[in-house]
Amino acid sequence: MGGIMASERYDEDVVLRILRTTEEINHLKDVDAILDRILLEARRLAQADAGSIFLLEKDQLAFSYVHNDTLFREDENNAALYSAYTVGVDDTSIVGYAALTGQHLVIDDAYAIPADRPYAFNPRFDELSGYRTRSILTIPLKTFDDRLVGVMQLINAKEGEGRVVPFSRPSQLYVPLFGNHAAVAIERGCMNRELILRMMKMAELRDPGETGAHVQRVGAYSAEIFQRWALNRGWERRVIKAQRDLIRLAAMLHDVGKVGISDAILKKPGRLTPEEFEVMKLHTVYGARLFVNTTSALDRMSVDIALNHHEKWAGGGYPGVLPDFLHSDEAAGQPKRGEEIPAAARIVALADVFDALAARRCYKEPWPEERILTEIRASSGRHFDPEVVAAFFQIYEVITAIQRRFPD
Ligand code: C2E
Ligand code: SIN
Ligand code: SIN
Ligand code: FE
Ligand code: FE
Repeated sequence: MGGIMASERYDEDVVLRILRTTEEINHLKDVDAILDRILLEARRLAQADAGSIFLLEKDQLAFSYVHNDTLFREDENNAALYSAYTVGVDDTSIVGYAALTGQHLVIDDAYAIPADRPYAFNPRFDELSGYRTRSILTIPLKTFDDRLVGVMQLINAKEGEGRVVPFSRPSQLYVPLFGNHAAVAIERGCMNRELILRMMKMAELRDPGETGAHVQRVGAYSAEIFQRWALNRGWERRVIKAQRDLIRLAAMLHDVGKVGISDAILKKPGRLTPEEFEVMKLHTVYGARLFVNTTSALDRMSVDIALNHHEKWAGGGYPGVLPDFLHSDEAAGQPKRGEEIPAAARIVALADVFDALAARRCYKEPWPEERILTEIRASSGRHFDPEVVAAFFQIYEVITAIQRRFPD
């Protein structure tokens, strides 16, 4: 009797925890932060060593997030997050099969899948990493009204002593239940990012050479540089995660104020005259005005970044401290310097210039990598905060993974 009572109480606790986690996830803004939290919770529910999430993009399932306790410590190998790997929605792969059938799939040994199954295990990841996948729980992520958002795959359930075992009956019950809530949160997160990309498209519609890729890259570089910078400073992981969620989106909006700059200046093929550049500088002020009357943490960070991403560490940047930037069209205040510049803006400053130098613009050719890195080193302590430059070079491998993930 006691056993039955205990297991009923346990059920209730699990369901409550799922609801509580869902509530927490609903406060997150950016889809990466949402995926991170979902994977953490699903792995906890099923005691899984590793896991990944594939999101439906057009007709493909794009590898979008990964955890692996054995291979990389949490927060320490983010290059893996930016691998551009997709599988089709068809029955040849495990992930594709789950998406196609809408059913969750339980595999006890990836290397002993019965020959009569249409799908096969892809050993590519194991071969590259030396990891040994054994048990797999694959769950289609569907909203309550049955729209497929993606697929979550949990790998290697572990029992107490860390031995890998098949996924338990309770995991097969609770993880799919959690998956429904997760799908709704993911959909909302994707919508946030898409809304931003659409806003940026509007701002740049007149400029056919530019895509959302610059915006995606600057957002991702900024989130990764921020995380390294904050870890170097000994920040708590929980605080880092919350800030990282905001900076990713706010950094994507750094140049949204360019919507207020005329084509004649924005698209000028050659160098700007000093008068034209004075007008161009106002994109910082125009961007900040879009967010200044609101009060969310995301809006505050968006103001900080839009307004200050062209300030320089040693001074001499713009727009400077303005008496009242809501009403003044004067982009020449007293320049900020050092830690007067919000940290998020110091980070985006580097992310933006790095990307601008690597890109073709209507007014410049792309620079070779070596020249860019030399320029960034030379600008440390002048244009850029030396601590931010140090963090950038510490994670340079991740930076190049982001470049490959979001090509022009
Ligand atoms: P952007 O193209 O996104 O460039 C962002 C920042 O990257 C620039 O801020 C600058 O710090 C750096 N950067 C970009 N290209 C170069 C380069 O060839 N050499 C060096 N040393 N740095 C570079 P900045 O200068 O404040 O410019 C802000 C925005 O103004 C630029 O954003 C771009 O949209 C526009 N802009 C700047 N100069 C010109 C120009 O000569 N012609 C045109 N058409 N637009 C310009
Ligand atoms: C873009 O977002 O693609 C252009 C903005 C910039 O030039 O930094
Ligand atoms: C922070 O630690 O929150 C930023 C302080 C700084 O501007 O360096
Ligand atoms: Fe800018
Ligand atoms: Fe930019």
